Amino acid sequence: MTTEALKQQPAPQQAAAAKSGTDLIRIHGGKRLNGTIEISGAKNAALPLMCAALLTDEAVRFTNMPNTLRDIRTLTAVLESLGAIITMGPDGEMVIHAQEIKSDHADYELVRQMRASILVLGPLLARMGAAEVSLPGGCAIGTRPIDLHLMGLEAMGAKIELHDGYVRATAPDGLCGAEITFPKVSVGATENLMMAATLAKGTTVLHNAAMEREISDLGACLIAMGADITGLGTPVITIKGVPALHSALHKVIADRIETGTYMIAVALTGGTLRLKNTQTEFLKALIGPLKDAGVSFDEDGGDIIVHRNGKPLVGTDIMTAPYPGFPTDLQAQFMTMLTQCEGAGMISETIFENRFMHVPELCRMGANITVQGNAAIVRGVKKLKGAEVMATDLRASVALVLAGLVAEGTTTVDRIYHLDRGYENLVEKLQACGAEIERIREK
Ligand code: UD1
Repeated sequence: MTTEALKQQPAPQQAAAAKSGTDLIRIHGGKRLNGTIEISGAKNAALPLMCAALLTDEAVRFTNMPNTLRDIRTLTAVLESLGAIITMGPDGEMVIHAQEIKSDHADYELVRQMRASILVLGPLLARMGAAEVSLPGGCAIGTRPIDLHLMGLEAMGAKIELHDGYVRATAPDGLCGAEITFPKVSVGATENLMMAATLAKGTTVLHNAAMEREISDLGACLIAMGADITGLGTPVITIKGVPALHSALHKVIADRIETGTYMIAVALTGGTLRLKNTQTEFLKALIGPLKDAGVSFDEDGGDIIVHRNGKPLVGTDIMTAPYPGFPTDLQAQFMTMLTQCEGAGMISETIFENRFMHVPELCRMGANITVQGNAAIVRGVKKLKGAEVMATDLRASVALVLAGLVAEGTTTVDRIYHLDRGYENLVEKLQACGAEIERIREK
């Protein structure tokens, strides 16, 4: 099957997630947030970094890994199924040793739980000359095809076949460097091809590459492993293939989406949060609109202090876009904030076509939101009201938790297994800053 035909693949299913637990989060809204939150290592950096460890038979050691996240556990199981030996220590330590790849087959049962599993395709193919990976699952926020990943691997000489829900890629004589122009910016495709190209014969140039901070972090780790990469953080990344990569020690960057989520939380509730182990530099697209809305920021010895006094928030417009634009992964949280603004704000979602699934749930809490195509107009309301709501994807789930923090009365968020994929100790971190929030474990 051609890569063109792969665009027609069905939307990912959530069946796996549905089995993984039915805990709830209950919030009594109305408390200000005051205190300190340690930001975890970035999930979206950690996942490709783990896959990069497949590129060498030597051990790669990571620190600041968000080891407790469900997505990290899922990928651990995927890598172990391929033959990697993984050990996790305290404080986010993780060592991945893929001395021997025992299988080039990443199974549906694991891959369907998380879309990022497709990132094993490039490294496996580069190292083994063959890889078979189930078509991925993940958040149900659109069709999310993988045609760009496959188009790039084909350009590097791989033969791609699709059968029974699996992608089989083969390059028995190894991959060859190529000039690849992405018709659309893709974080995952940039990562997959960058990893594959490290061991290819010759030079690969990726045009219209993603510039996300997580890509630069992956590139930094690959360079520490012996790769030859230039142009990180720009739309043109050049990778000169090398015969082999080796061990490295790498610290995972801070999670900018988690950081932004807590910034929006304190914007909503009022109060002052000190965010530790993180940076403002990669969140300019959020900090600008937050300042416009009335939130203030200070930096103190590497910490970010986010503050909002009693003044009402003011509505402001945003449009999601690839980095350095406004991150789609903060769109749902920002929408919750707009429900509490004076006036109205418009959100245009340009990355994923089905990423307004939190809207009906927010409306059940009293929000006034009108969706038309890829745009949503959010008119501020005086108060949200606590309700029983259902999480639909990772970022939508946290947007509902944020809504619960300011709603009158009690909010119960169901299906929080989505949250466990991407937020470490969310309940504990918010509790420590004064939120009345608890996790209710189903027996
Ligand atoms: C990554 C992030 C995710 C974030 C997204 C956009 C990880 C693990 N996940 O996802 O949290 O929301 O970036 O910032 O890092 N597309 C295609 N064909 C492809 C690949 C992508 O058409 O082969 C489209 C997608 O459907 C989407 C757009 O390109 O509309 C961007 O997707 P992409 O950047 O690839 O997202 P992910 O890497 O899956």
